[in-house]
Amino acid sequence: MAAVNGTSAADANSQIHKKPRLYADPSPPLFTPSDILYEFSHHDPTVARINNGSFGSCPSSVISAQNELQIQWLRQPDDFYFNQLQPKILQSRTIIKDLINADHVDEVSIVDNATTAAAIVLQQIAWGFAEGKFNHGDAAVMLHYAYGAVKKSVEAYVTRAGGYVIEVPLPFPVNSVDEIVHEFRQALQRGKQNGRRVRLAVIDHVTSMPTVVIPVKELVAICREEGVDQVFVDAAHGIGCVDIDMKQIGADFYTSNLHKWYFCPPSVAFLYCKRSINNSDLHHPVVSHEYGNGLAIESGWIGTRDYSAQLVVPKVLEFINRFEGGINGIKKRNHECVVEMGQMLVEAWGTHLGCPPEMCSSMVMVGLPACLGISSDHDALNLRTCLREKFGVEVPIYYRSPKDGEDGGVTGYARISYHVYNKVDDYYKFRDAINQLVHNAVTCASLPIS
Ligand SMILES: Cc1ncc(COP(=O)(O)O)c(C=O)c1O
Repeated sequence: MAAVNGTSAADANSQIHKKPRLYADPSPPLFTPSDILYEFSHHDPTVARINNGSFGSCPSSVISAQNELQIQWLRQPDDFYFNQLQPKILQSRTIIKDLINADHVDEVSIVDNATTAAAIVLQQIAWGFAEGKFNHGDAAVMLHYAYGAVKKSVEAYVTRAGGYVIEVPLPFPVNSVDEIVHEFRQALQRGKQNGRRVRLAVIDHVTSMPTVVIPVKELVAICREEGVDQVFVDAAHGIGCVDIDMKQIGADFYTSNLHKWYFCPPSVAFLYCKRSINNSDLHHPVVSHEYGNGLAIESGWIGTRDYSAQLVVPKVLEFINRFEGGINGIKKRNHECVVEMGQMLVEAWGTHLGCPPEMCSSMVMVGLPACLGISSDHDALNLRTCLREKFGVEVPIYYRSPKDGEDGGVTGYARISYHVYNKVDDYYKFRDAINQLVHNAVTCASLPIS
């Protein structure tokens, strides 16, 4: 795919060391370690950033391409609006369609983020209740570890409309996929009690906190067997993190952010909607001129705003293809490295991982020493703040309440991420920070309240 109008700063930088290229190179050279350092040189060098999962990351060459697009808009907005915006959005949708193995580009809409995608899917459920297509008390099923914002959306659109929401309890630490499948089947049976229909299942592909890869293909198949009307997969962490193939997964709706693991700037996500379902009730929650012209077209204009993040997908693909093995190579190396770093940390602290390596992606839960006394969500947040402010380590912390009768076990887990810019030293810095707290007998009770 051609670079977006002009030479990026990264290209300019690499040309200092390489022969000038007269024609577009069909297979640009693989990145060297110093290229990667340059691409992420805007990251704060004082921080061990082992939290790609929360906000993702965007390389310099993509930021330059985005800036160029913003300037193109500002130079002549009317021309950009009438002649360039929609073809460029279509180009990004077409790339995404191929990446996710969808049948047709009409199945792919570009939206801001997974939160917006969830609102689109859930809003049509609310109308199902309001317009009498569903009975009061029909059910929606979601995982207990669904993302907090998505749970709020379910509350706003499903519970409020008269739906009965069932949460699937999931064990943590988790030892096998079977534990998840078992709990999910039981929750569907509860959903179908008293003659209720299950109208929607919301299934995460990679849960956020605690993070675990969910066997989505199996759970979608179970939904089909059990007559669930619609299945929505929230894969905010999907693309660039786990394998995704719409035909194999078979969900009705699937969303993934591209700004988490796919190197796009904030914010851009896709929402896949299977063509075979009746899409006439699917609308973007921000209504504009294109209302009624299909979700993908509606989403392509939701009023005047900055669309540039949606337009850099071709540039991102170019960036990714300069890594050995492209996105699959990146995913594989990230997974292997995060497991290795997780194992190094649990050995250093005498704890355990939150799941077997095959149930994690580019993020893994790492047990923290019990002597830190993490005994509430508030403690977990305080410890995170302390790690950021006193040690220059950015990592989210999860509190797990002990089961009845459990005493002295691990109650706090860190979610570590690994992406192409991370270094072993980032994880050593984290290890040493925790060791120092333990050595100084610091507990959460003695941390300053934030
Ligand atoms: C599972 C899950 N769903 C939804 C979201 C929301 O993503 P965004 O804030 O980009 O809308 C996140 C964010 O981390 C997430 O982990």
